[in-house]
Amino acid sequence: MSNQKPPRRSFLKKLSNLGLAGFLGTTLPAFSQVKSSQSLTNHTDGDYHFLTQPYLQCFSPNEIIIRWITNKPGKSWVAFGEDKNLNNIATPQTKLGFVEADNTVNSIILKNLKPGKTYYYKVCSKEISSFSSYPKYGITIESQVFSFTAPDEHAKEVSMLILNDTHDRPESIPHLITLNKNKPFDFTFFNGDIFTFVHNEPQIIDHFINPVLQSLGSTKPFMFVRGNHETRGRYARQFDRYFLTQNNRFYFTFNWGPVQFIVLDTGEDKADTHNEYAGVIDFDDYRIEQATWAESVMKTKAFKKARYRVVLMHIPHFNSDEKHGTTHVRKLFHPLFEKYKVDIVLSGHTHKYGIHPPDEQHSYPLIIGGGPEDGKRTLIQLHADANELKVNMLRDDGVEVGNYIVKP
Ligand SMILES: [Fe+2]
Repeated sequence: MSNQKPPRRSFLKKLSNLGLAGFLGTTLPAFSQVKSSQSLTNHTDGDYHFLTQPYLQCFSPNEIIIRWITNKPGKSWVAFGEDKNLNNIATPQTKLGFVEADNTVNSIILKNLKPGKTYYYKVCSKEISSFSSYPKYGITIESQVFSFTAPDEHAKEVSMLILNDTHDRPESIPHLITLNKNKPFDFTFFNGDIFTFVHNEPQIIDHFINPVLQSLGSTKPFMFVRGNHETRGRYARQFDRYFLTQNNRFYFTFNWGPVQFIVLDTGEDKADTHNEYAGVIDFDDYRIEQATWAESVMKTKAFKKARYRVVLMHIPHFNSDEKHGTTHVRKLFHPLFEKYKVDIVLSGHTHKYGIHPPDEQHSYPLIIGGGPEDGKRTLIQLHADANELKVNMLRDDGVEVGNYIVKP
């Protein structure tokens, strides 16, 4: 397979074949730092329509979050069920007596799902055409019917794909996922720095959500953790609308099959007091909060009894730089990883891929995915069953550049 960037034209052709070109707008910025929305999806024009198809996020076997974005405000719901009759309706959450409405980023949780069961669903949005004293409704739009399989905490095996550091190169997402070929997988994880600076919603749609949908469709969930670059840019402060977990946090834990995952949000790479940050960040306290939380998770029976304990976090604390973020992560999290016997840590950030087996510094393997340039990008495949947890790292030309096996 070529080591070159997939030509932009062929990328758009693939999107067109998948019916996604319309979501991406007419001009997709190729490999650029996004400074404004002018070259991205036009947001508000036209009749009421979906800016994205539904994307799934999943943090527990019994619940799934379905999110999608419309071009104008409305009121939304999900019709779903175990067959295509879609006999159940899930409505938005309520807060302070209000049913969430008059919004464009929709987030609806399906609850009490049966692990391992296939569900069918469609998303529906009704335009709010005017809203002075009370809302007045316009047209209703519906997606096609999709399906997903609820995760199973008792599944015998789990498979996932991990990408990191695509840095506003939307073509990299389908390119890397395609390297997986037809190997089955349950979900995808994005390990930070999918963006370089976060400026606006069109960037979130065109550089992340729609390339992910092109690859995964609306049937497989993805999870995401911020890298240090997702803390940068004004719109980074709106991220929670698109990617928040059930617990209203960006750090979280979930189990799927034989693996208990812990996802840590490692924050910025330099000290909070660095001039660049202009006094508007406080990641030291945030990392301390996470260390306390992580230890509370690691003390649980479920964590101790899990066949494998896997940590996902953007900044690796060894085989990295010695900036404040790295050393603070090392100081706070590394002792916990040792004490509670984490089996493997997967990171990104350095742009230099590598498999780092246990050594005198860390008793667990540390896997670092590469990126964002051609020849440095990686797809990490993780598969775990009763016998072993195996990680394979593929470079963007499809060549396997490393692997590691953990025995339970
Ligand atoms: Fe990074």
